[in-house]
Amino acid sequence: MEKKIFITQSANETQEIAKLFGKTFKGSIIALYGDLGAGKTTFAQGLAKGLGIKKRIISPTFVIVRQYKAGFKNFYHIDLYRIESQKDIEGLGIKEILKDPQNIIVIEWVEKIKDLLPKERIDIYFEYLDENKRKITYEFGY
Ligand SMILES: Nc1ncnc2c1ncn2[C@@H]1O[C@H](COP(=O)(O)OP(=O)(O)OP(=O)(O)O)[C@@H](O)[C@H]1O
Ligand SMILES: [Mg+2]
Repeated sequence: MEKKIFITQSANETQEIAKLFGKTFKGSIIALYGDLGAGKTTFAQGLAKGLGIKKRIISPTFVIVRQYKAGFKNFYHIDLYRIESQKDIEGLGIKEILKDPQNIIVIEWVEKIKDLLPKERIDIYFEYLDENKRKITYEFGY
């Protein structure tokens, strides 16, 4: 498995690496892991910029799923923080969203639906090092 590690010194730097990632990303599913405040939403915002999305990306914590247009593709930002188990996602359309390889999907608190994730994805781990420092590890599943 290929791994890549970054240490970022600010939220802005996390957004910059996410933006670069978004510019070259050819896959579909990006799974984000890490504690509260680790930088998952910050990363998703930079990623959206890299995909050419101009709209401001706001955290989907309360609605769980937000959809944006990214050229001819759809970008989905999903936050599962408020769901308790896999069965809580019934009716949200997440299974269908995951099935379409034309979608670009970034998911926070993704461990809650780990069994539903295809192997073809990128896992990104966020670790808090200090107030402004984060360790970000990309693990490519394919
Ligand atoms: N190097 C850094 N990378 C990312 N965020 C940073 C960094 N340094 C400081 N921060 C701050 O940490 C916070 C990260 O919050 P963010 O909402 O991105 O976390 P999250 O992982 O999405 O949390 P949650 O699980 O609550 O959704 C922001 O306030 C951001 O400004
Ligand atoms: Mg978040």
